[in-house]
Amino acid sequence: MEQTEVMKPETLDDLIKVLHKIFESDNINVEEVQNIMEAYDSNPQEWMKFAKFDQFRYTRNLVDEGNGKFNLMILCWGEGHGSSIHDHTDSHCFMKLLQGQLKETLFEWPDKKTCNMVQKSQRILQTNQCAYINDSFGLHRVENASHTECSASLHLYSPPFNTCQTFDHLSRFRRFK
Ligand SMILES: [Fe+2]
Repeated sequence: MEQTEVMKPETLDDLIKVLHKIFESDNINVEEVQNIMEAYDSNPQEWMKFAKFDQFRYTRNLVDEGNGKFNLMILCWGEGHGSSIHDHTDSHCFMKLLQGQLKETLFEWPDKKTCNMVQKSQRILQTNQCAYINDSFGLHRVENASHTECSASLHLYSPPFNTCQTFDHLSRFRRFK
């Protein structure tokens, strides 16, 4: 059987170049993107300029607009910071850990009648790991559970989006930017 070789991007710039190439096509191979993002060894010197940490909540920092096909952002998570439970607006979402750890909790889409949020699974993502989610997986919440260490993650959304639907545990729907 033919084996596909995973190209190893040596730098963040390399990774961005490879992603531009991959996303020239309209047919995206999720595993290929995930493997490429995982193969990049996070080097803080390369991404620190995009990373802004806030005392009170996680921040989203644009890295690249990906020719309109995708966008790349670095999310910076202080100790204990977390997202709300959210969907991904019919986009592919890749999340690569650049620093620290993040806890990802998956939920089923809430039942329209009862509005109950049901937790499906939970895992800890380690530095350099790359997770993937789209709306068919359900919803998720991401948090830096550490009380001593900051985390940073590189997110690729395709098609790019700025807003998503968020849910709280009582499943009241709201929108945020
Ligand atoms: Fe997400």
